[in-house]
Amino acid sequence: MPLSALPPIATSLPDYRAMEDTVLAARIGAVRQQMGPRLVILGHHYQQDGVIAHADLQGDSYQLSKSAAERSTCEAIVFCGVHFMAETADILANRPDKVAARGGRRVNVILPDMAAGCSMADMAAIEQVEDAWSDLATTIDTSEITPVTYINSAASLKAFCGKHGGIVCTSSNAEAVLKWSFAQRRRVLFFPDQHLGRNTAKRMSIPLNEMCLWNPHEPRLGGNDSKQVEKSRVILWQGHCSVHAMFRPEHVAAMRQNIPDIKILVHPECPMEVVDQADQAGSTSYIIRQVEQAPAGTKWAIGTELHLVKRLEQLYPEQQIRFLSPVVCMCATMYRIDLAHLCWSLEHLAIGKPVNLIRVDDETAKWAVTALERMLAVG
Ligand code: 13P
Ligand code: SF4
Repeated sequence: MPLSALPPIATSLPDYRAMEDTVLAARIGAVRQQMGPRLVILGHHYQQDGVIAHADLQGDSYQLSKSAAERSTCEAIVFCGVHFMAETADILANRPDKVAARGGRRVNVILPDMAAGCSMADMAAIEQVEDAWSDLATTIDTSEITPVTYINSAASLKAFCGKHGGIVCTSSNAEAVLKWSFAQRRRVLFFPDQHLGRNTAKRMSIPLNEMCLWNPHEPRLGGNDSKQVEKSRVILWQGHCSVHAMFRPEHVAAMRQNIPDIKILVHPECPMEVVDQADQAGSTSYIIRQVEQAPAGTKWAIGTELHLVKRLEQLYPEQQIRFLSPVVCMCATMYRIDLAHLCWSLEHLAIGKPVNLIRVDDETAKWAVTALERMLAVG
């Protein structure tokens, strides 16, 4: 149905919230039809099904950033994900060379709900990282450290890595990025997710006693003594994902006891004690691939965000898929992106009055893109 055939655009979010999902879906479809290839909707695997149904591309953090980096002709990217993902899309879609090639036109990047943040990204502020770097310089030579930020971080942290010879990683390339980092320098400062950092370093045979945990709230050396810092090859920021931290080793033990031939498949944001006991660990796309490729009848207990596990259950009814935890582990901020916010932001975009624009300032973007491009080159 064309947009003109629908009732006129509502103005406030409560008006959209009052609409039935079927009405919202029809209006979203109408904007997509009207804008055609000028509009790209990106959706992370953790989004709810109703939202994913409208995405041009569904992916993990790496695939979505790569897709944003490759967009050169669209006018707008509406990002159904969280704030750091939209920032990354803005940085990559609006690299100065791309903007120049478009005659100065920027791609508008829109996050349908500005409150869709990431609690893990909020655990490392740029001031804390800069303080940590200065504090480390009192004990070790910081020119020996590659700073590595997980993509789940503010643009300012990516810029910090760009300026200091560092790099960005995602859960799908963390090992390749750490290898690259150690090829540059002998130590790594990894933020904000201690678990992805520890799980990846351990998989690369770095012993735990060559890692230390940096608590940004401690007054000196992140709560470590200087000897511990000196012998550390990996300095792990004390941050975590509040969703994946809820998976516990006792959940793995209980599953194995009840269903002896079950396969445990988890995301590497889970604590080390869970990853160590799992059969396989990897990014959201890795998890999807394992299930896709498995024969009918395979029994899985999956430790990642609930919406993805529920979708897999529906897509692969011939397999026996269970959620690893007995309690609900759901990303409340991803869930903020609903049909009402999506429709509200799309209709404003369609009438030339975009809302919720994400715009990283030029100086931050310049350095952040350096770190992001190093990551894209690693793959
Ligand atoms: P990936 O999709 O890259 O595995 O990321 C998981 C996640 O927690 C996103 O915030
Ligand atoms: Fe952040 Fe965890 Fe939600 Fe991913 S799942 S957006 S890491 S809080």
